[in-house]
Amino acid sequence: MAGTLPALNQEPIYKKIQEYYDKHNKDIVIKDLFVNDPKRFSKYSLRLQTPNDGEILLDYSKNRVNDDVWPMLLELANVRRVEAARNAMFSGQHINITENRAVLHTALRNRSLEPVLLDGRDIMSDVRAELAHMKEFTNKVISGVWRGCTGKQITDVINIGIGGSDLGPLMVTEALKPYGKGLRSHFVSNIDGTHMAEVLKLVNYETSLFIIASKTFTTQETITNATSAKTWLLEHAKDDAAVAKHFVALSTNKEKVTAFGIDSANMFGFWDWVGGRYSLWSAIGLSICLSIGFENFEQLLDGAHFMDNHFKTAPLATNAPVILALLGVWYSNFYNAETHALLPYDQYLHRFAAYFQQGDMESNGKFVSKSGKKVTYNTGPIVWGEPGTNGQHAFYQLIHQGTRLIPCDFIAPAQTHNPIAGGKHHKILLSNFLAQTEALMMGKTTEQAREELTKSGICGNELENLLPHKVFQGNRPTNSIVVKKVSPFTLGALIALYEMKIFVQGIIWDINSFDQWGVELGKQLAKAIEPELDHCEEVSSHDSSTNGLINFIKANWK
Ligand code: F6P
Repeated sequence: MAGTLPALNQEPIYKKIQEYYDKHNKDIVIKDLFVNDPKRFSKYSLRLQTPNDGEILLDYSKNRVNDDVWPMLLELANVRRVEAARNAMFSGQHINITENRAVLHTALRNRSLEPVLLDGRDIMSDVRAELAHMKEFTNKVISGVWRGCTGKQITDVINIGIGGSDLGPLMVTEALKPYGKGLRSHFVSNIDGTHMAEVLKLVNYETSLFIIASKTFTTQETITNATSAKTWLLEHAKDDAAVAKHFVALSTNKEKVTAFGIDSANMFGFWDWVGGRYSLWSAIGLSICLSIGFENFEQLLDGAHFMDNHFKTAPLATNAPVILALLGVWYSNFYNAETHALLPYDQYLHRFAAYFQQGDMESNGKFVSKSGKKVTYNTGPIVWGEPGTNGQHAFYQLIHQGTRLIPCDFIAPAQTHNPIAGGKHHKILLSNFLAQTEALMMGKTTEQAREELTKSGICGNELENLLPHKVFQGNRPTNSIVVKKVSPFTLGALIALYEMKIFVQGIIWDINSFDQWGVELGKQLAKAIEPELDHCEEVSSHDSSTNGLINFIKANWK
């Protein structure tokens, strides 16, 4: 891969953008940009034609970028060698430098006949063999050929995993519910026994299939939950042989899977070059296959492959992930925006923001550069969001009138899966989707607010007192992403779009987006605390707050 990069804020082009920002940021008023340029929408939007699922529209015209700053931002992507880094990822170089691993989740959705080489070896036959295994198993379970220990057909699938071994399958299974094949899906992730207990209340051991999803097969939460599920099954089935009919494992760690008591024939494998938060495309997607059928899972892969190809081949200026990444850099690094909201106007996408909380924050929540130096600029934003219109009645107030700048992505399907009341609901939903970005950009001036109040019969002191509260500053940046319908294909494309956005930002910030050492310290300390909860003596080995909390809990938990 290309050599080390200078600190981002030492790049001449970065300094130039900073200078421009310092001089002109107050003059960049989005609504004026539209007035001055009738072609702004076509200039600052992108349409991607999918083979069978319509177009994907990315409208990024409602951003604080003009024809001066946008070329400079594109130049920033160029000097940070985004294209070389992208090629390094796709060609299997070990870009996850702290773990000396390649990053090849793109191979899992490589639907072409092209080989993918890892250390000189084509890995596509391994990928295809695992997909074939998943297909065979999925078809057997859905058709009822695979049965539980008492001969009954499987009706409920319980995925036990956490982080990337939970969030992706959960988000996609929810998003693609209309494509469901009839099996009920459940997800247990939290170590809190309540999560397992509540799911077990809903299922019958004779018709349940537990999928133990863990890349490492050492994650405390997953192994504890899996052990409890196995105990529950054996309490009911009273026969060790039941495990083979009701438990399968998704993992890279055959040894641990076998040690847990799951036959390796019931294991679906993947590889260390698949990061946890990028693993839904691998065997970790088995619960997705069981929910929507293997053909639809293939469509999901096709959609992601479509976006990968776009990312690989489109020039920077018309490259959707690059565009989203640069806008994020613009707001994070120059405007000091701290968060980024993902706002899907589709109830089926209700876990989309939660999924990309891990996708983005675990990837780009880093404070040292690849060479180990502390960075002197902002890196990954805080990602959050809820589906519209619920969010409108909760937190949008702050986005409209708060003191912070919150760039938002609005995501919507033109068509709904549920056109109830003659499509009235969807029409109202989309009207809100459209109105919000317009309102965030346009705002409401003092004059407009005054006129409105006057028209409604308010005058004098009452009007003057109310007036400042009724003003919206506007100029709040948004992207709008519209797909024809949330289908397996368009969802695959959408996920890959955000994955690649995160990748591009990691390259620009010069951080390793593929490790997650930050989650380790808490795990280590929890292991040290656990035995301290067993004995009766007061604990005094920590700081006084931690001691105080431990001793309070010990005094009250029984
Ligand atoms: O919490 C850190 C993490 O390693 C995530 O990156 C990962 O997705 C999750 O734990 C689960 O890991 P595993 O699949 O190995 O159980």
